[in-house]
Amino acid sequence: GLGAAVPAAARALPQSNVDAAINAAYHQYLPLTEGKNADYIPALAEVPSTYFGIALVGADGQIHSAGDVEQPFSIQSISKVFNMALVMKESGQQRIIDSVGVDATGQVFNSIEAVEQYRGKEMNPLVNPGAIATVGNIQGTDPDQIWAKIIGIHSDFAGRQLEVNQPVYQSEAATNQRNRAIGSLMSAYDRFAMDPAVATELYTRGCSINVTARDLAVMGATLAFGGRNPVTGKQVIDSSLVPGILAVMATAGLYDDSGKWLFKTGLPAKSGVGGGLMAVAPGKFGIGTFAPPLDEAGNSVRGQRAIIDIVNALHANPY
Ligand code: DON
Repeated sequence: GLGAAVPAAARALPQSNVDAAINAAYHQYLPLTEGKNADYIPALAEVPSTYFGIALVGADGQIHSAGDVEQPFSIQSISKVFNMALVMKESGQQRIIDSVGVDATGQVFNSIEAVEQYRGKEMNPLVNPGAIATVGNIQGTDPDQIWAKIIGIHSDFAGRQLEVNQPVYQSEAATNQRNRAIGSLMSAYDRFAMDPAVATELYTRGCSINVTARDLAVMGATLAFGGRNPVTGKQVIDSSLVPGILAVMATAGLYDDSGKWLFKTGLPAKSGVGGGLMAVAPGKFGIGTFAPPLDEAGNSVRGQRAIIDIVNALHANPY
């Protein structure tokens, strides 16, 4: 594309521009009170709505940030990206295509109609039915062993040992009847061999992993740089797996608003109902934000606004 015509020096990200872009977005949206915390998972309603953090990590692994970037919160749906990466790493990308699908459903993230419409096929790993089926496709039968792989790959992407937010986990586990139904339905359509109750439980635990905005920036940067964590230097997944992951993020990462998001940023991203948002500028940077109030589609209001501004300021839209 046109990128090839731009001299390398112009494409590098001058550090002062990055910090200026982050600070401008931070101060612009700090006072914004639009949106509402998720409350269908009771513990998420109790997280202070005022938290706001932005972090960006480029090729050198240096962290640029503003605000509450060390505040832990539950990763929620952003974990779906890393479970997809795990299944691809273990069993190849064809397994995801065959067992889960890679097409947007055009429906809300926990839609049962979407499952029925396609008889459990042609979902994708970033909506709940596909995400539970993705966990169900992780190899093994011992839940502890499977959990070790799930927390392990999340930790490798983040470059540090992550842990579960127990209050959020207990809160969701006590109220996730709908996800258990979805897991059973996907199992009935033969999308995976694992006991559906186990798959749903492991999926829920994965959603409760605590991360910070800084972690999301490092995790995004690992995808931006071909699966190699720029902070630790570890090759977490083979670079050949990255384009497929980013493709599903681009088409389904922000649910029914994925098109609007791509229109404004051109970047693959993934949101979580805990208020996290992770975006990937391939070859350039990963960005992570935390701001709990969500819009109608379930995506962080301030996170989206901040990333859109930063992407524009840094000319990071590839289109
Ligand atoms: O399964 C759920 O409903 C939550 N653990 C995750 C949903 C979620 O984050 C959707 N995101 N925007």
